[in-house]
This record gives sequence, C-alpha cells and structure tokens, in this order.
Amino acid sequence: MVNVLTELAQHVADGLRRSPKALSSMYFYDDVGSRLFQQIMELPEYYPTRTEFAIFREYGAAIAAALRAEAGEGFTLVELGAGDGAKTKLLLRELLASGPDFTYAPVDISAGAMTGLVAALQQELPALRVAPVVEAYGPALEQLRAGPDSKAVLFLGSNIGNFGPAERLDFLRQLAAPLTPADRLLIGFDLQKDPRRIRAAYDDAQGVTAAFNLNLLTRLNRELGADFDLAHWQHYTDYNPVNGAVRSFLVSTRAQQVHIAALEETFDFAAWEVIHTENSYKFTLPQIEALATEAGLRVVATFTDAATDFADVVLATQEQ
Ligand code: AVI
Repeated sequence: MVNVLTELAQHVADGLRRSPKALSSMYFYDDVGSRLFQQIMELPEYYPTRTEFAIFREYGAAIAAALRAEAGEGFTLVELGAGDGAKTKLLLRELLASGPDFTYAPVDISAGAMTGLVAALQQELPALRVAPVVEAYGPALEQLRAGPDSKAVLFLGSNIGNFGPAERLDFLRQLAAPLTPADRLLIGFDLQKDPRRIRAAYDDAQGVTAAFNLNLLTRLNRELGADFDLAHWQHYTDYNPVNGAVRSFLVSTRAQQVHIAALEETFDFAAWEVIHTENSYKFTLPQIEALATEAGLRVVATFTDAATDFADVVLATQEQ
C-alpha cells in the first residue's frame, strides 16, 4: 500500500526526526488555535494588538492615503493572515471614505476565522467588496502575482516576526517580486523594548498562551492519531534581547515515547527535551530599514505609537 502523507504529517515527520526537534507555528491555527489566538490578543500582557490598533486609530487616514498614493482606479487590498480583521476595519473605513473603488481580499488559512470575518464585514461595512481567500500565504502570493489591479498588501500584527531571519528575507522578496512602483506594502513590526514585558507577553498569567502552544499536540493527536499525553508537556518561552528572538517550546516533563499512527513511527523524548514551536522576533527601526533594502524595497513612511512599542511601515519598490 502506498502511504501518501499529508503536508502536516510530512512536516511532523521531518520536525521530530531532527535534533533539536522543531515544529512550525504555522500549524497552531486550527479552529481551536485561532480562537485561542483571539483570546491572546485580549490579554493584558499581550500589548502588540492593542498598540497596533492605537496606531491605526491615530494615523488611519494618513496610512490609507499612503497606501492609495499612486494606485489607479480599482485597486485590491490584500491582507495576509487576516484573522478577525478588527484592526483592518479602521483602515477599511478610511479607504471607503476616500472612494469605494477597491476590493478587500483577506487571506487566512483558517476557514473558521474567515467565515466570521466576512459575515462581520458584510454587516458593518455593506458597501465593501470582499473577495476572501482561504489559503496559506504561498498559493495566495501566486494569485497576487496573477492579478491585474494595483495592490496594497497588508501583513499586520507582527506576523513577520514569526519567520526566522532567512525565511523573512525570502518572504519579503517574494512579496516584493510582483509589485509595480504604484503598489504598496504595509507591514506591522513589534519593536524591541523592556525584555521583561516582551517575555510576559508570551507567558501570560492566565495560561492562554500555554494552551495555544499545547493545542498543537492536541491537533497532532486528532489529525495524525498521535498519543501525546498533555499531562506531561509544558509551555516554556524565552526572550533573547541580543537578537530580538522570543522562542517558544513544548517541554517533555519526563522521558516518554509518543506514537504517531499516521507516520507508523514512535518518537523518543528525554526528560526535559524540547520541541521548538515558535519564533516571534522583535525589531529595531534601523533593522527594518536594512531588511527593506535587502529585499529590494524602500521605506515610504513609518507610523509608531507614542512609546515606540510597535511600528507600521509602508514600503514600496526601489524604482520610483
Ligand atoms: C501571530 N503572531 C504574530 C503572534 C506573535 O506574537 O508571535 C502569535 C503568538 N504566539 C504567542 N502569542 C502570540
């Protein structure tokens, strides 16, 4: 019998055979994970969402103007990783006020999150044209390449921080490739700050972030027939202020074996061995400039909150 592995199964096989073991945070976002992430965004410790919200409230009109600056009639506003779109609604209102000649194309891997978003938008902004895309970023970027309209691409919430340095540059180059000089990117970057505040944002007192991380194991139990016993796994996170990386781990609290039926394989975990599950990089403004230049982009405008905790950066191609 030929055993064709799903993308998730292949990823888990590769990630758990490697040393140190690692899984991608991309797989956090099943329907339960997406709901837990909504809760994280409301937590007192998790400042990025409300800070970016405050930037949009304060500078929404200026950001909308920067995105539209050179767009002709009928541009497409693509949002990668749209989630519940709460922040984007502020921007959408500003853009609608300056003319309804655009289509909002939210892209999200979670069908559940997308259904909620589209329903909410139809209710709250009935004049808005919405063309949802339930896809991973890769296929969505292909569609973007094929589209005829001028575009503004949003990548908010410091999602960029979830890539490692090489992947981040590669991703930005992929985003930059289909852009014409009239197109714009708007990227949210979480900035380096008090290391204790950053660490607390990823290890909240209520344990919601822990549940979010551990849910990955529940997903593997359900979707791949794994037998992770959640009583013997912990969430752990650290922040390295030298390179700006928050790293999250699932820690095996005892020596144990886990069988994964879909892989017909048993994995050994030593006591206190970890699975690295997420990076959440924090940036400085000079690093953002350098990253943009390396990716073939230029910074058109930077919007930050008063405490400089977070930056929303408008980028364009280097040819003007
Ligand atoms: C989606 N992403 C930007 C979040 C972050 O801050 O890295 C995911 C997250 N992980 C733990 N808390 C929030």
